Amino acid sequence: MIPEASLLAAHDLRKTYGSTPALDGASFSVHPGEVVAVMGPSGSGKSTLLHCLAGIITPDSGTITYAGRELSAMPDAERSALRRSDFGFVFQFGQLVPELTCLENVALPLRLDGVKRKAAERTAREWMERLEVDGLGAQRPGEVSGGQGQRVAVARALAGSPKVIFADEPTGALDSLNGERVMELLTQAARTTNAAVVLVTHEARVAAYSDRDVTVRDGRARDLEHSA
Ligand SMILES: Nc1ncnc2c1ncn2[C@@H]1O[C@H](COP(=O)(O)OP(=O)(O)OP(=O)(O)O)[C@@H](O)[C@H]1O
Ligand SMILES: [Mg+2]
Repeated sequence: MIPEASLLAAHDLRKTYGSTPALDGASFSVHPGEVVAVMGPSGSGKSTLLHCLAGIITPDSGTITYAGRELSAMPDAERSALRRSDFGFVFQFGQLVPELTCLENVALPLRLDGVKRKAAERTAREWMERLEVDGLGAQRPGEVSGGQGQRVAVARALAGSPKVIFADEPTGALDSLNGERVMELLTQAARTTNAAVVLVTHEARVAAYSDRDVTVRDGRARDLEHSA
């Protein structure tokens, strides 16, 4: 409807694995500062959609536009650089690097993006404080609880000041109390920084933190309507 205002938009994505159509004409868009929940049954194509939007996998056809530029038209190196500078990721099991301390994990995306250690760790510390895990800087991921680890993962996703945060079942491994706290802190941080959030979940109580829900069914997400 108002594609000019979208930060990230996908049109008619198709992706097939062998004979399995994972995406079958999916469209999607998100604005800066907007939290969109992507819902739908298991196997419907939610993760595939998220991976396409994030430039991690390439759809067989369809277009993805980020800040006015077509993702698939970019050279691989440029797309990877964009992922590092503009996108943040949170997955179901945090996927922290086990050999690094929590502080080093949060600082890692900044380090990979060329920020000097001291500055990266200063920013990392600020985000750990906001996510209420500032006491865990020296621990390794194996030494913290699931909820704490997920908050460290959210701090890591936010530390690079991403324009878009991709979260695939970020609370899937947590009990409801921890899950809600993670969602509260994640959406609050996104609103403060005006980041867009693409949140895959099948839990209604997680989707309750979104501004808008999009349902994926059989690889189709029809969503160019904006309620606001
Ligand atoms: N790498 C792959 N190789 C083969 N098939 C795949 C691959 N990734 C996904 N698929 C298939 O594509 C379809 C969509 O998968 P996808 O992971 O996107 O679903 P989902 O909605 O995220 O499911 P869940 O809620 O269980 O995570 C499924 O039928 C799945 O089996
Ligand atoms: Mg999935």
